Amino acid sequence: MKYIIQNDKPLKGIVKVSGSKNAVLPVMAASILTDGAVTIRDVPCLSDVQTMESMLQALGVKVRYDNKAGVINLSVPERLEHEAPYELVCKMRASFLVMGPLLARLGKVNVPLPGGCAIGSRPVDLHLKGFTALGAEIVQEHGFVSAQTKKLRGAKIYLDFPSVGATENIMMAATLAEGMTVIENCAVEPEIVDLANFLNSAGAQIRGAGTGTIRVTGVKRLNGTDHTVIPDRIEAGTFMIAAGITRGDITVTNVVADHLKSLIAKLKEVNLLVDEDGDGIRVIGEGRKLRATDVKTLPYPGFPTDMQAQFMCLLTKAEGASIVTETLYENRFMHVGELKRMGADIKIESRSAVIEGVPELTGAQVKATDLRAGAALVLAGLSASGSTEISDIYHIERGYCELDTKLNSLGAHIIRVGQGEELIK
Ligand code: UD1
Repeated sequence: MKYIIQNDKPLKGIVKVSGSKNAVLPVMAASILTDGAVTIRDVPCLSDVQTMESMLQALGVKVRYDNKAGVINLSVPERLEHEAPYELVCKMRASFLVMGPLLARLGKVNVPLPGGCAIGSRPVDLHLKGFTALGAEIVQEHGFVSAQTKKLRGAKIYLDFPSVGATENIMMAATLAEGMTVIENCAVEPEIVDLANFLNSAGAQIRGAGTGTIRVTGVKRLNGTDHTVIPDRIEAGTFMIAAGITRGDITVTNVVADHLKSLIAKLKEVNLLVDEDGDGIRVIGEGRKLRATDVKTLPYPGFPTDMQAQFMCLLTKAEGASIVTETLYENRFMHVGELKRMGADIKIESRSAVIEGVPELTGAQVKATDLRAGAALVLAGLSASGSTEISDIYHIERGYCELDTKLNSLGAHIIRVGQGEELIK
């Protein structure tokens, strides 16, 4: 599958953001902890959601996913499998989030080690450190990690780094542990708060989500519940950058401006007009000259690594030299080579990229190497002269719900082509 983009005119209009990928995946995993019917709403239509659905089904959970309505109904039976299939964990790293819930629920779990991925080595040592502190015995062999315990017991856990996944996995496991768990130096991302809200609505006792210390008082069981996931701040940010790079005028709705503070500040620094007062966030690039700026990725509330590639793409057309520093992942500059093929002037120096703005990008054949790198190439294609062909768009569809359709509704011209036929959405 590929996208063919032929567009160098401003994008204009209103676009509604879907539910958050990084919120819905942990919420689906956390459902393993519940007894009773669970309904999840505003579920985005993503292949990663389908992968998590397959994972839950493989474990024995009854799942019904209506991707048109964006609703998942599920219920967890008495008996569950304790081993997660290799082919699903290697397809999507977030599958590792079933480990905490299965350990808490069954007292034993066997999950393949997710290994590295295109953007870096991505270890799980902090997840395992947390489970060990809660009283699990961990063994790693033959590419699997297994954990076993008679009963998880609350503990004080200090994370050496505020890892999103480790905070989620440990928080989920702690909900059914005996006594109180305190997770210090934990991640404070909005998706952590959403997960805690979901768990609390099912009867968990979690306090402090969204701050650097989370306290979980274990309960005996969790009930079913009905939860609506938060909007996807990364999808919203991608449309906001589309307004800037095409010198257009886009209003994104179903968005929480508070979740996008660091991006909004940076968009203003590059001389875009950002209006948060109306219904949604409006970004105006029309008639404005883009200015260079520097940015460094950091854990929330810092600038998100998941927006780095898209923001760098915007900087390729800003006047002057910008520096982008990636502190979270060691190999998250794979879009650079592809952007250079489209005429961008970028040099990598260790963990930083130095971008010298150019007046124009030109269409080329390029390849999406991972999800956000793919999104950056779409943005580049929208503002390039001539035609841009992006292959391997399955990466993009892991995390963006109908990106081509939504951009086309704003005036873009993107054709999705697959297996010899042209699919114009
Ligand atoms: C989540 C997001 C991902 C985002 C990332 C950082 C989901 C499904 N994915 O990924 O989109 O890019 O947060 O905002 O929510 N680390 C360790 N040991 C560990 C765990 C992590 O060293 O046990 C390191 C990682 O290698 C990485 C950093 O911590 O350098 C951040 O990783 P983490 O916050 O755990 O990201 P994920 O939860 O995998």
